[in-house]
Amino acid sequence: MSKKRVAILISGRGSNMMSLVEAARSADYPAEIALVLSNRPDAAGLAWAKAQGINVAAVDHKIYAGREEFERSMQKVLEINRIELVCLAGFMRVLTPWFVGQWPERMLNIHPALLPSYRGLHTHERALADGVKIHGCTVHFVVPEMDAGPIVDQAAVPVRDDDTPDTLAARVLVEEHRIYPRALAMVAGDRFVLKGNRVLARA
Ligand code: GAR
Repeated sequence: MSKKRVAILISGRGSNMMSLVEAARSADYPAEIALVLSNRPDAAGLAWAKAQGINVAAVDHKIYAGREEFERSMQKVLEINRIELVCLAGFMRVLTPWFVGQWPERMLNIHPALLPSYRGLHTHERALADGVKIHGCTVHFVVPEMDAGPIVDQAAVPVRDDDTPDTLAARVLVEEHRIYPRALAMVAGDRFVLKGNRVLARA
């Protein structure tokens, strides 16, 4: 079995990245983590990945004149590393249609809400403010529109009466760590068909 070469893009602590790295240690997992790339050189997740012996890179968005210059540098790094699939995992930069267009059906994102509800930031605060009883997380293909794109996997959690944004985030995060490796396996293993907006399991 030839494993797909995956890059994980992070901006912070990288707990989702860690769950993908752990999953990819299995001999029968269809992807290998060939690169962890951060737009923040000091990201905690980057140091962790480096300590694991994983190939890492930093492309500091602050030194570029604009979004597209920054993305062209990232794209070069991805190409040099012969990356086939990109996983956004807490990568907190908005991507241009140009960059997204380089990775059609080849870039995944994890979002801390049940899309199409609660696109954008502060999802847990907003869910509590709305009084919803069910919340969750989504893995989806990335398209130019932010937090849209065909849904690969989702998981729901109950909202409890005594929840704060932090306790709710922690409950959702457990599910994020469960569904992201599963979604990547499905995509890297070519075990899906895209029908319109629907990602269906290949028979
Ligand atoms: C995760 O909860 C992820 O879903 C969220 O950021 C967190 C990153 O944590 N992503 C977004 O909000 C994207 N808009 P991590 O660095 O520990 O994986």
